[in-house]
Amino acid sequence: MADTLVIIPTYNERENIPGIVARVRAATPEVDVLVVDDNSPDGTGRIVDGLAASDPAVFVLHRSGKTGLGAAYGAAFRWGLERGYARLVEMDADGSHQPEQLPALLAAADAGADVVLGSRWVPGGGVENWPTYRELLSRAGSAYSRVLLGLPQRDVTGGYRVLTRHALDSIRLQDVHSRGYGFQVDLLFHAARAGLRIVEVPIIFVERRLGESKMTGGIVLEAMLRVTLWGIGALPGRLRRLVGR
Ligand code: GDD
Ligand code: MN
Repeated sequence: MADTLVIIPTYNERENIPGIVARVRAATPEVDVLVVDDNSPDGTGRIVDGLAASDPAVFVLHRSGKTGLGAAYGAAFRWGLERGYARLVEMDADGSHQPEQLPALLAAADAGADVVLGSRWVPGGGVENWPTYRELLSRAGSAYSRVLLGLPQRDVTGGYRVLTRHALDSIRLQDVHSRGYGFQVDLLFHAARAGLRIVEVPIIFVERRLGESKMTGGIVLEAMLRVTLWGIGALPGRLRRLVGR
């Protein structure tokens, strides 16, 4: 069995899923792939069933409906931990996270990181074909979260990551409540508080060519609200440490 599992969440990614799975298998033949599909109306789940039937390294986790990225990852992490994988990878289905850059992320984990963040906002990282408003939203979201939560990382909202089994055991997943994309910040905040070793590796995020983003105003709002509340909650502890110094 492989020791690394690449998790790819999907909701209506019919045009993208065969290509991304093929690219992962080509770039990193030694890893397994789990697609977690929320009963996509466009039939993505059936396509993945076909991929899984013809490749023993490809698995699918069918969920009954769309309950958000955080919930899908939560279920997929549990699936992978139960089966004994040592490292779990988060990757989007739409090609924005290039499988060809995965070896660099895995190398950082080999070198001792508990959590590896594929990062757009460190030297060598960046975005291709992203609309200006999305880049601004992402940079602003990262900046806001960094200041409020005291996180030193540059890209705190990204979704291309490696987490070791040790990291996921230390982060109590039942305490990570975010349903939408804010889940990424939530997970990182818990990882930082657990004292895990977090390393950023530059990636080039390539905006999708096919299908549509599932980002909504509601998702942004949920993330901002939660970050603000955590920030307020963490304030007394930060002040105490400041005064104690
Ligand atoms: N199973 C499941 N359930 N998958 C979902 C859901 C859901 O509710 N919502 C989105 N996805 C899947 C999409 O099908 C895609 O594979 C991936 O999650 C990312 O969704 P996109 O809609 O393409 O995200 P994006 O490009 O707008 O946002 C990217 O940037 C965000 C901010 O940095 C992603 O990398 C996010 O992870 C990241 O937080
Ligand atoms: Mn995308």
